[in-house]
Amino acid sequence: MAQASVTRRYRFCAAHRLHTDHLSPEENLAAFGKCNNPNGHGHNYVVLVTVKSTGSGTTGAGLDLDRLDRTVVDHVVKRFDHHDLNQDPEFAERTTTGENLVLLIWDLLVKCFPTGQLEKVGLIETRDNYFEYAGALEMVNDKC
Ligand code: NI
Repeated sequence: MAQASVTRRYRFCAAHRLHTDHLSPEENLAAFGKCNNPNGHGHNYVVLVTVKSTGSGTTGAGLDLDRLDRTVVDHVVKRFDHHDLNQDPEFAERTTTGENLVLLIWDLLVKCFPTGQLEKVGLIETRDNYFEYAGALEMVNDKC
């Protein structure tokens, strides 16, 4: 049976600095340019969460959007909004690039859904930068 998807949009504001201790100050500057500025900078991030909808078919019972919102707010928005991403323990060893952030958001959310329901996570960082990840279908044993 055909199955549509639904995407919800969420926002958080956060600071970060692109920097890795594995590179020298000069190498960091060369790799990350102004994003390596020691004072950091902020973004108004937009997170797009796409899940398989249950709203088609004979019953037409819709996805529980309130539950989806609560999940994303509790596990992503509250965690990052008005925080310095570089201070997040998950970024102790990883640079706070959009790629790494969208992967982390996927990891935080996928364990909260039945297997296969989360389809894709998108992350808008700037007007021109968009990142997305659609993880492999796999059993997740971690707790939500
Ligand atoms: Ni940035």
